[in-house]
Amino acid sequence: MIIAIDGPAGSGKSTVAKLVATRLNYRYIDTGAMYRTVAWTAQKKGLRLADETAMAEIARDMDIEFVRGGGDGGDGYSVRVRGEDATLRLKNETVGKGAAVVAAQKSVREILVAKQRQIGKAGNVVMDGRDIGTVVFPHAEKKFFFVADAEERGRRRYEELKSKNLSLDLQGMIQEIRQRDGEDRRRKISPLVMADDAVKVNTTRLSIEEVAEYVLKNINNLDTTKKKVRISRL
Ligand code: C5P
Repeated sequence: MIIAIDGPAGSGKSTVAKLVATRLNYRYIDTGAMYRTVAWTAQKKGLRLADETAMAEIARDMDIEFVRGGGDGGDGYSVRVRGEDATLRLKNETVGKGAAVVAAQKSVREILVAKQRQIGKAGNVVMDGRDIGTVVFPHAEKKFFFVADAEERGRRRYEELKSKNLSLDLQGMIQEIRQRDGEDRRRKISPLVMADDAVKVNTTRLSIEEVAEYVLKNINNLDTTKKKVRISRL
């Protein structure tokens, strides 16, 4: 089974996706980390993010692994880039902003979506991102779309980064979350939109546990009859 969780930054996708994956003993794939890796690599090499050819080359050469356990992120999952633990470095907001820039590039998306489909092919995976239910796996058995108020999302991101000593100021964080969302929603290719057949969950006033319980319950009640889905293209 493929479980797709999409939604804006700070809506709780990755925290809940990790919990759900652990409970179901599924793999967890953080597609945001793939876009972040492109931006991070480019920033390290001093390349211009606007250089789509160079960004596509980084995406093509990407060697990324999602590992349960270990990692310097402290939440039981880690991202390894070329064998090196990059969990914490990828969380940086400068990298996040860069990710939104390269995520608007067609060739980068084509390459990363192909990789995501390859990773998900084996099934039993929880994948989170912006376009998993609409583009990457339009036939996913279960799709969720998380939303939450911008203030709350900014606060969560701020708390998360603060706990990892990567803090910025709260107001700045809310501002950045709003800006990144706007960019994700307005971009021409694979904008952030809810799939017609996704279950919408407003996480603003819910705890992580409550959201995870809701998702798990919903998965257990899965209706396996074939449903019609509209397939969106990049
Ligand atoms: O989820 P995360 O904040 O790590 O994602 C970073 C950025 O990567 C997002 O703001 C978005 O621009 C991009 N992204 C995307 N499609 C995905 C996952 C992330 O465009 N499936």
